[in-house]
Amino acid sequence: MALPDILKTNVRLPVVGAPLFIISHPPLVLAQCKAGIVGSFPALNARPASQLDEWLAEITENLAAHDAANPDTKAAPFAVNQIVHKSNVRLEEDLALCVKYKVPIVISSLGAVEELNQAVHSYGGIVLHDIIHDRHARNAIKRGADGLIAVATGAGGHAGTLSPFALIQEIRQWFDGPLLLSGAIANGGAVLAAQAMGADMAYIGSPFIATREARASDGYKQMIVDSKAADIVYSNLFTGIHGNYLKGSIVAQGMDPENLPESDPSKMDFGSAKAWKEIWGCGQGIGAIDGVVGAAELVERLKREYDAARKKLAA
Ligand SMILES: Cc1cc2nc3c(=O)[nH]c(=O)nc-3n(C[C@H](O)[C@H](O)[C@H](O)COP(=O)(O)O)c2cc1C
Repeated sequence: MALPDILKTNVRLPVVGAPLFIISHPPLVLAQCKAGIVGSFPALNARPASQLDEWLAEITENLAAHDAANPDTKAAPFAVNQIVHKSNVRLEEDLALCVKYKVPIVISSLGAVEELNQAVHSYGGIVLHDIIHDRHARNAIKRGADGLIAVATGAGGHAGTLSPFALIQEIRQWFDGPLLLSGAIANGGAVLAAQAMGADMAYIGSPFIATREARASDGYKQMIVDSKAADIVYSNLFTGIHGNYLKGSIVAQGMDPENLPESDPSKMDFGSAKAWKEIWGCGQGIGAIDGVVGAAELVERLKREYDAARKKLAA
């Protein structure tokens, strides 16, 4: 199945800048879109809820002005991430704002619900749903999602344990719609590899934390630059859902990363800003990150590497 126009028009590299709790905000999203990749942010990053209206107005107006001034390099579309879970009491209100601003792409996480998909389809938008295994993928498509984001092992934030090969191969047995791959993708060759294995686009999070536009502390950005895959710890202690975190941030909170207790599921709080502010989420791909740069510079590097990898394979 051909990729929908929304995911192709003005997209100069097949990449979505993944939504990052607390970290993604309009300056990062705008930089990503103008650099030619899809930029995104979680609706919950706009606090209080009324700020979402302001952010969507800012992003929409700024991108329209960019497009008018740069007709040959128009901005890629943007996406808003909605956490579909009973603890997200803002969902209805935030979704109404997505409809008001006709947000081109909505990324739904955790729960797949028909009402959200219908609301986004009502104005011509598309919904991508993120999943960590095939069962959830089938459920999301049954409920009307347009595409899938396969979150493989090694991804930053809440992550699964399946190999990217296993996930993509399994999903491609029955689904020929838009499929994105997420988890430890941090150079252009890996973007091409995602496509070679059957995904349409790469979904990249952690590398964008180490950019100037990211709303993260300097210490967090530097720890990403200094850390390697072996410095990533997989635990469900902090939010009740398994995810990947920087070992250094766990040590800094006085905990032993080698001996973390299991979480108490009854106290699950995946959206706790406190947990994410102190314990820093991060994927395993950061060995490829060696400095804090502007988001456009990071996209440029990815594009250069992607083009070089294509050339090398074609030779
Ligand atoms: C600090 C951090 C916060 C995240 N917050 C969210 C979020 O709010 N919603 C979401 O759907 N995914 C979230 N993710 C997951 C990313 O969207 C994406 O799946 C992941 O970063 C991809 O793996 P990578 O970091 O190895 O590139 C987060 C990831 C990180 C590292």
